[in-house]
Amino acid sequence: MTVPKSIAKRIKQLREEIERHNYQYYALDNPLISDADYDRMFHELQELEGRHPELVTADSPTQRVGAEPLAEFAEVAHRTPMLSLNNAFDEKEVAAFDRRVREALALERVEYAAEPKFDGLAVSLAYERGVLIRGATRGDGYTGEDVTANLRTVRAIPLKLAGRHVPEMLEVRGEVLMLKADFEQLNRIQREKGEKAFVNPRNAAAGSLRQLDPRITASRRLTFFAYGLGAVDGAPRVSRHSELLDYLAQNRFPVARERKVVKGLEGLLDYYRVIGAKRMGLPYDIDGVVYKVNDLPAQGKLGFVARAPRFAVAHKFPAEEATTRVEAIEVQVGRTGALTPVARLDPVFVGGVTVTNATLHNEDEVHRKDIRVGDTVVVRRAGDVIPEVVRALAEKRPAHTRTFIMPTKCPVCGSTVKKLEDEAVARCTAGLYCPAQRKQALLHFASRRAMDIEGLGEKLVDQLVENQIISTPADLYKLGIAALSGLERMAEKSATNVIAAIEKSKRTTLARFIYALGIRNVGEATARDLAQHFGGIDEIAEADVEVLQQVTDIGPVVAQSIAQFFAERHNLEVIAQLLAAGVSFERVAPAVSVSGRVRGKTFVLTGTLPNLTRDDAKQKIEASGGSVIGSVSKKTDYVVVGADPGSKYDRAVELGVTVLDESGLLALLKGV
Ligand code: IVH
Repeated sequence: MTVPKSIAKRIKQLREEIERHNYQYYALDNPLISDADYDRMFHELQELEGRHPELVTADSPTQRVGAEPLAEFAEVAHRTPMLSLNNAFDEKEVAAFDRRVREALALERVEYAAEPKFDGLAVSLAYERGVLIRGATRGDGYTGEDVTANLRTVRAIPLKLAGRHVPEMLEVRGEVLMLKADFEQLNRIQREKGEKAFVNPRNAAAGSLRQLDPRITASRRLTFFAYGLGAVDGAPRVSRHSELLDYLAQNRFPVARERKVVKGLEGLLDYYRVIGAKRMGLPYDIDGVVYKVNDLPAQGKLGFVARAPRFAVAHKFPAEEATTRVEAIEVQVGRTGALTPVARLDPVFVGGVTVTNATLHNEDEVHRKDIRVGDTVVVRRAGDVIPEVVRALAEKRPAHTRTFIMPTKCPVCGSTVKKLEDEAVARCTAGLYCPAQRKQALLHFASRRAMDIEGLGEKLVDQLVENQIISTPADLYKLGIAALSGLERMAEKSATNVIAAIEKSKRTTLARFIYALGIRNVGEATARDLAQHFGGIDEIAEADVEVLQQVTDIGPVVAQSIAQFFAERHNLEVIAQLLAAGVSFERVAPAVSVSGRVRGKTFVLTGTLPNLTRDDAKQKIEASGGSVIGSVSKKTDYVVVGADPGSKYDRAVELGVTVLDESGLLALLKGV
């Protein structure tokens, strides 16, 4: 039976559309259509292929999952070896690398391509005439394992090259990862099923990829980032590494958004600092950054020593895990009364600092990980997060250790400790009568992102509460210099500064004020939403649970916490006192009245703006009711252009979309 041309054409069209949206979703994290629309297309394709099985091809998006389990992985010899990188552990070693490169190339300043060092596992993907035919692990660098069926289930990996000029043969090298969020979710599921949790996203990714049954791999969310090429026949015409990454991106491979071309040693070290600061916020784990000489002919000239290239180096972040001994387990009381077990440790250097305490989160965690006093433990400190105890080394446990028991009375105020059924956390029930909770509430109130009272730190708050000078945030505004300067380590000068800072904090915004109140489950974002929606504190206090749930992103649990907070007379009194003391905020106009010129409009950002970061610009646009999308089409309303814009700028000009610079954007937002 011959298939009508129109059906073959429709199948082709659906495959192309699905691959394009796959790329938007899995590689760019920027879906252009709803899940329902995507599913509809996918089902239509499945249905057509079901009726015309002769038209099914290996590169169809319907064919990612479904291969049978293997008995073992076949071996794959890499046509070009998968080498490793030399490491640099400090700035001196980076400087030495840069010096060697400059000398070898006889250049004063070298251009580098800098990118994150993904903490996953290396794979090589072979495309023959544009179709993925094999995927292999690194193995020993020369021979790896054939994990093609598993890699086909990774949605971020294209089954087919999208570019116009397809090389005869192309090996794309990159890293398979599990995103932090997907790792957390996988571990939740593992625990629910009573199975072992994975130690970190890299182990989870490795464990998922090395499954003989591809259906298991398919059930784990893996992703992929490309960073280079292996063997090629009919190479893409590029002369710089950065262009190669652009070429890969055009062929719908995910490449790091954080990649950057930098110049000289200064450029390298700046990049390291910027990525180091961003590290925690990245959706995936990285263990450093990689610098590569950008000019490809120069790379060739530099060549290799032993098993690593001379043209590249990995600048590693300080180790984030170390082992040490638990000296004691103590219990701390937090702002909401939560009792947190904390391990006192033999001091250990980890993640760039000396750590003496590490959180054990809650009682269940201590028991699940079975951490005991005297244990040798692995401590982890990633970026700015609080150090935590990851696990105990069972083989090093001394005899006669005892398991941890949560106290039944608050260690600070002696009140009853309760654990709600659906919560993992035990709490002191005394509320603000417990000095520990009072101190934490005050510290939160004064913190930088809340009322921003500089100088009101832990030591001072401890003394103020212990000497019963203050008990609520409102008492802060009654403080005089005399009351402060009598305290330990408080000279008159610092007392004056603190009083001035308290005075200054009176002028604030409603969002900060709400956040400062420390309502359970109300973080900064929710505080902003509340301020925007209601415009005034009285309106929020009067809202019932139903009304509160009309606010974007507020569900029943958060609404309940808010309503409960304002139902407490004590809290209303504190608020009244704060307002009476002169705390004031400009009334924020409700969302509907923001500049009508931005509401409902779509924006695309490209290039580096002089003052605003990309996130700033995005936030401002969204706060005014606009949305920021990833690609320019005829329907885009504005393209905001900064320095070194990408192809989006050309596209905007081509399509006649209005182009704005930063000041143009700001004027539009202001409604000028
Ligand atoms: S380039 C010639 N770039 O690090 C070697 N590698 O120690 C070219 N890695 O096994 C490697 N992120 O899997 C390169 N942006 C990146 C990387 C990266 C992670 C891994 C790679 C390799 C290991 C080398």
